[in-house]
Amino acid sequence: MDQKVLEEKDPLVLFMPSGRRGRFKKGTNVLDAARQLGVYVESVCGGRGICGRCQIEVQEGNFAKHGITSANDHLSPFGAKEKRYAEKRDLISGRRLSCSSMIEGDLLIDVPQDVQVNAQIVRKAADTRLIERNPAIQMCYVEVEEPDMHKPLGDLDRVKAALEKDWGFSDIIVDQHLLPRVQSILRAGNWTVTAAIHKDMDTARPSLIALYPGLKNEAYGIACDIGSTTIAMHLSSLLSGQTIASAGRSNPQIRFGEDLMSRVSYVMMNPDGCEAMTKAVRNALNGLIEEVCAQSGVDPQDILDTVFVGNPIMHHLFLGIDPTELGGAPFALAVSGAVHSWASDLNLALNPGTRVYMLPCIAGHVGADAAAVTLSEGPHRQDQMMLLVDVGTNAEIVLGNSQRVVAASSPTGPAFEGAEISCGQRAAPGAIERVRIDPITLEPRVRVLGVEPWSDEPGFSEQIEKTGVNGVCGSGIIEVIAEMYLAGIISEDGVINGAMASQSSRIIEDGRTFSYVLWEGENRLTITQNDVRAIQLAKAALYAGIKLLMDKLEIDHLDRIGLAGAFGSFIDPKYAMVLGLVPDCSLDRVEAVGNAAGTGARMALLNRDHRREIEHTVTAIEKIETALEPKFQEHFVYAMALPNKVDPFPKLAEVVNLPEKTAPQDSAGGASGGRRRRRSRG
Ligand code: FES
Repeated sequence: MDQKVLEEKDPLVLFMPSGRRGRFKKGTNVLDAARQLGVYVESVCGGRGICGRCQIEVQEGNFAKHGITSANDHLSPFGAKEKRYAEKRDLISGRRLSCSSMIEGDLLIDVPQDVQVNAQIVRKAADTRLIERNPAIQMCYVEVEEPDMHKPLGDLDRVKAALEKDWGFSDIIVDQHLLPRVQSILRAGNWTVTAAIHKDMDTARPSLIALYPGLKNEAYGIACDIGSTTIAMHLSSLLSGQTIASAGRSNPQIRFGEDLMSRVSYVMMNPDGCEAMTKAVRNALNGLIEEVCAQSGVDPQDILDTVFVGNPIMHHLFLGIDPTELGGAPFALAVSGAVHSWASDLNLALNPGTRVYMLPCIAGHVGADAAAVTLSEGPHRQDQMMLLVDVGTNAEIVLGNSQRVVAASSPTGPAFEGAEISCGQRAAPGAIERVRIDPITLEPRVRVLGVEPWSDEPGFSEQIEKTGVNGVCGSGIIEVIAEMYLAGIISEDGVINGAMASQSSRIIEDGRTFSYVLWEGENRLTITQNDVRAIQLAKAALYAGIKLLMDKLEIDHLDRIGLAGAFGSFIDPKYAMVLGLVPDCSLDRVEAVGNAAGTGARMALLNRDHRREIEHTVTAIEKIETALEPKFQEHFVYAMALPNKVDPFPKLAEVVNLPEKTAPQDSAGGASGGRRRRRSRG
């Protein structure tokens, strides 16, 4: 029989979720088949049937789409190794050990992404997306030849020989910190050890970074988003992909400056400023490591890989790099590509072999956090035109699809975070977060953070006694101004209509302009003309940045919008659009992708292919410097109007009664001097 006929008769095996398929001779080991197809199936014990990491599940049935009729008995019967494992440990019914199963017929094999062999409590991270694994760390169990007087090969050399023989790793580099401990570890394990091999890039030499006596059937990694306000850390098992603990805390650098630019100024004014801030953030990270380890009972020494993301200034300060150059044009990054480092070099209290990977930065103001959001949401993986916006003191904007991706930052200032607003405050109990204004009576109803009922619902007055009503946070500011516009209190040019003062005592004279009284109580909270202006300036800067990117791609509509970061999670997309923060788009295609930077970091932690993917994508992203684009000013002036002077919002108009357009007033011009302050993102 010729080869071709033989191949067609051979069983067809399809692995899910990767979708890789191939034909194999009957009797082929399933783990070997997966390896040949490049499907990542975990294996710590190297097929000895003791680690239980290589589990698979056969999907039974006729899968016409794939041309496969798959059945459990298309695998060899339960073998001795599997029986032994199932007796000692729990093997979920229906699961098989791929290292001990042979192909006997066509198969659709599911590689579960949640194989756990230790009884760990899995914490639901805010984002529970399953990430296909291909980590940079591989745990490799080996049996090492005992020393022999006639063979003078050293203990470590015999470990290396075993790793080459069983795992195919040649030319291994060994971390120096292991040398003094190799002999004792080997003897403690009675000549069996588990080696942690780090191999991030295919072209790199493998490194032996940790060595454990006997079978070490677990290894962990952390993924961390260093925000300028908050740091969020997730601890995941590198062998199951499960997130087992999460923790967050404020960035202690806040004491050196609220927003990023004031932190850069601090560095410029204080000779030891950079060092102090680097130390502060690393201390906070060590605190978070202790916290996630305490939550999960994991030994920090078992955390072997880490991924960090952050905006460019956070990225630099974490690495101990002076961020002064990021404070002014041309906003030069010390390093824009991905950073590979050692946790010990960054004073993180982890295993001496623990590696650090930082995602690349996109540009001087579009950081590794935006790269992580991009990796998570994947505009480059889809045909639809997707806009990603991370709003902070600077907005980071990424726009594109599988054809082309562009990115920019825009100097929105801190108004969206409640700064520069007379009654603005950070999101905290007692802050007004939601606002509705009756268009007839102009009376507001509000919802306050930490209090369940709206202000016109039973129980509000009692509950409010605990928190008070102290100010308006970012989402509340967006809503109150949008509602003022919808109720006709402010014109499309953002002017508070003083004529309405005769209609409602909520409109009051305030010098030469008017204000709206949002709250009367212990504190009187008013929205002043200056507040409206501050929001107009911020949103115009954001919108103008987005328009520049749309011009670049020669598009006039968006298919999807993702609002990232904390702001994105709390803002109501409808109000963001009424104000004209973002262009018109079906509201059901606008979503908060709050945790996207953390998810992107986890993807890079658990799968080195995602590292290559984002490195490649970032190189291909075209960076636009908004400050240098002549059309920015024009877009900015049009964007001062609500929602916009020239751009229509037909999809928004389908769901919201937008006020009639009025004749142009001078107010947009009032901003035409346009503040072009460059700020860094918060
Ligand atoms: Fe360890 Fe199969 S590889 S049990």
